[in-house]
Amino acid sequence: MKLPYAEPFKIKMVEQITRSTKEQRLQWIKDAKYNLFNLKSSQVFVDLLTDSGTGAMSDKQWSEMMIGDESYAGATSYYKMKNAIKNILGFEYFLPTHQGRAAENVLFSALIKEGDIVPGNSHFDTTKGHIEFRKAKAVDCTIDEAFDTSIEHPFKGNLDLVKLENILKKYPKEQIPLIIVTVTCNSSGGQPVSMQNLKDVKQLAEKYEIPVFYDSARFAENAYFIKIREEAYKNKTIKEIVAEMFSYADGMTMSSKKDAIVNMGGFIALRSEKLFKEASVYNIMFEGFITYGGMSGRDMNALAQGLDEATEFYYLESRIEQVALLGKRCVEYGIPVQHPFGGHAIFIDAKKVLPQLAKEEYIAQTLAIELYIEGGIRGVEIGTILADRDPETRENRYPALELVRLAIPRRTYTNNHIEYVAAAMKNVFDRRNEITKGVKILYEAPIMRHFTVELEKI
Ligand code: F0G
Repeated sequence: MKLPYAEPFKIKMVEQITRSTKEQRLQWIKDAKYNLFNLKSSQVFVDLLTDSGTGAMSDKQWSEMMIGDESYAGATSYYKMKNAIKNILGFEYFLPTHQGRAAENVLFSALIKEGDIVPGNSHFDTTKGHIEFRKAKAVDCTIDEAFDTSIEHPFKGNLDLVKLENILKKYPKEQIPLIIVTVTCNSSGGQPVSMQNLKDVKQLAEKYEIPVFYDSARFAENAYFIKIREEAYKNKTIKEIVAEMFSYADGMTMSSKKDAIVNMGGFIALRSEKLFKEASVYNIMFEGFITYGGMSGRDMNALAQGLDEATEFYYLESRIEQVALLGKRCVEYGIPVQHPFGGHAIFIDAKKVLPQLAKEEYIAQTLAIELYIEGGIRGVEIGTILADRDPETRENRYPALELVRLAIPRRTYTNNHIEYVAAAMKNVFDRRNEITKGVKILYEAPIMRHFTVELEKI
């Protein structure tokens, strides 16, 4: 028989997590004003709020932590990170930052001005935030298939080349400072972009003389999907695929909290020395000197090691298969989820679970609360609360999809935890007809309300 996948690591250290009773959880979530961000982590049994910075480092990464060089300038740790970026990603220049959104802030300070247009594939919230903060506009050019959770398409992160070219034709090149390709595309459900699409985007961009940058938080997971789903790449190593992917980019921003498997860190990598020099000014202002930029030496060491480990096939196979296991169980139990399964998370289609709730009752949030009460599992709402109000009309924006994202941290939970999550979700699903009321807002902040919103049950 074909041998199944198995984690290419064993466990050397464990962290206690505590189970609780339903009664406790009913009280805790009420005290947290029905906002899962307000829960203490000790009140959560399986924490699937995010896969960002929540992964487990390896013994080699921890060893690297011990030999970090904390010199202010020119630390050996900086050169370790520089070499890893050059060898694995192929970029000559780089700037460390404290996390992904900081990389966006620094890079966009150098590139984006008021009135600019930035096309891409469903820009991540912080990316869009940093574009809009500069009074520029993010234009979504994702393929239409991405917006229907039931369509099976191998590369739902792809950019629609017609939509993209229409934008490139419509505006002068001076108004389009860059194209951003997010790999994998978080906002469309952790969906990958094909190598063919990366090539086509680059070709189109060259025709219009626009640079292409990748938002690379989950680049290694994207490379895995290319290997599995794109015929021409099935015999290539992940590192070969990664090198080719980035050969079609002029630069990248990185949240290292994902595919570099560290708890904190980020960077910008570039080919252009001129842009490197321009961005360095902002890096020094916002992040720190260019050889540490918001990171300690030990963190740069761990990051360099993490980049190497995250671009190995067997690690990625166990990672993506574990996410898929949760997806498969949900399908078996009849729970509607987004297809195909994403690289880092499973997205539950809350409108299909709770069709009886009005959109004003925050459907996905209600489902996320129920899953917490059922099993102490913390997911996150990707729905109306996150979509926030229209800045002009101040009316709620109701997105097409109400999703609960269950993001799986890297190398952190076992498949038994996954079975536990799926069983809890099944229990909620089985009693879905009893959930007849949602929640209403008691307090909300003027922007980014989802973090601090206070709710009560209707
Ligand atoms: N780009 C993508 C695609 C992301 O998913 C994130 C973060 C960022 C940029 C920003 O990076 O958090 O290091 O500043 N995503 C997290 C998530 C928060 O839960 O999906 P950061």
